[in-house]
Amino acid sequence: MSIQNELLATIQDLVQPGKGILAADESHPTIAKRFKAVGVESTEDKRREYRSLIFSTPGLGEFVSGVILFEETLGQNSLDNVSIPKLLESQGIVPGIKVDKGKKPLVHAPGDEITYGLDGLDDRLEIYKSQGARFAKWRAVYNISNTLPSRQAVEANAEVLARYAALCQAAGIVPIVEPEVLIDGDHSIERAAEVNEAVIAEVFSALRRHRVQLEAIILKPSMVTPGKECVKASPEQVAEATLRVFRRVVPAAVPGINFLSGGQTPEEATLNLSAMNSLGQQPWYLSFSYGRALQEPAQKAWAGELDNGSAVQTALLKRARLNGAATSGAYKEDMEG
Ligand code: 13P
Repeated sequence: MSIQNELLATIQDLVQPGKGILAADESHPTIAKRFKAVGVESTEDKRREYRSLIFSTPGLGEFVSGVILFEETLGQNSLDNVSIPKLLESQGIVPGIKVDKGKKPLVHAPGDEITYGLDGLDDRLEIYKSQGARFAKWRAVYNISNTLPSRQAVEANAEVLARYAALCQAAGIVPIVEPEVLIDGDHSIERAAEVNEAVIAEVFSALRRHRVQLEAIILKPSMVTPGKECVKASPEQVAEATLRVFRRVVPAAVPGINFLSGGQTPEEATLNLSAMNSLGQQPWYLSFSYGRALQEPAQKAWAGELDNGSAVQTALLKRARLNGAATSGAYKEDMEG
């Protein structure tokens, strides 16, 4: 298959009505934090046990089209001794891989951060592809305040995201482009809208400069919400504010926008997505690429005990199914019971 056909086939497999993406690509420090919250020490065996359990959930492929993996998991075998990418494929799910190396402070820009990992990325992409990955993820992070992010951070992160996306497409790997404007802080929904608009506009300007084919990317943004320490907005307000920004800055050529959950509760993330999809047809498919909002209940059910396996899978499948319903605006709160 040509690189071009490979990219478009992957987009077709990822962007499917009723389905979204499961982000299970937590780095070692992040998964340690998630496990600690349910009283489990993060060891390679425990990470393998938990991830093996969630990926083998019967019926997961009905609501999940792709899973983002951490490098360690891409090379692991399930509890039944099947390679994890093979296990996902057997569920009709496309395996993907987080390829950034995390963030560090941006020099000369106090409070801003920049994501590392471009050096050697072309070689790593070839290896990941040979291990079964067909799409990738790179997360840029923007802190928000009255003055942050600086212009410097907005431009630097956009440039790096675009170079990553171009390298992925050259390798036949679909890039998920993730500019995450953080929820932390007491900023208003208006300030979140202003920052998201500036950040995403700059990302598309850089993508164009690097000749990234917009039909073969997926955008993974934050929803436009007030800061965590501010009064919450209703799902209708979040939906309207988010779509207003996206209509301004996301070209219609982009096939899918798969939101991150960013610290929203599982129920909020589902409600907000459903509210957006209740506002009628948009140029892009609007779906989820949640980490915490899909996995939190499953991690609680697990608590480090293999014997809780079926409760883990029930909890994960429930959130996947409800978010699947939210992709058509069909989710209602009484479906939680
Ligand atoms: P959350 O949905 O937990 O924000 O995670 C999504 C993700 O992949 C962040 O990079």
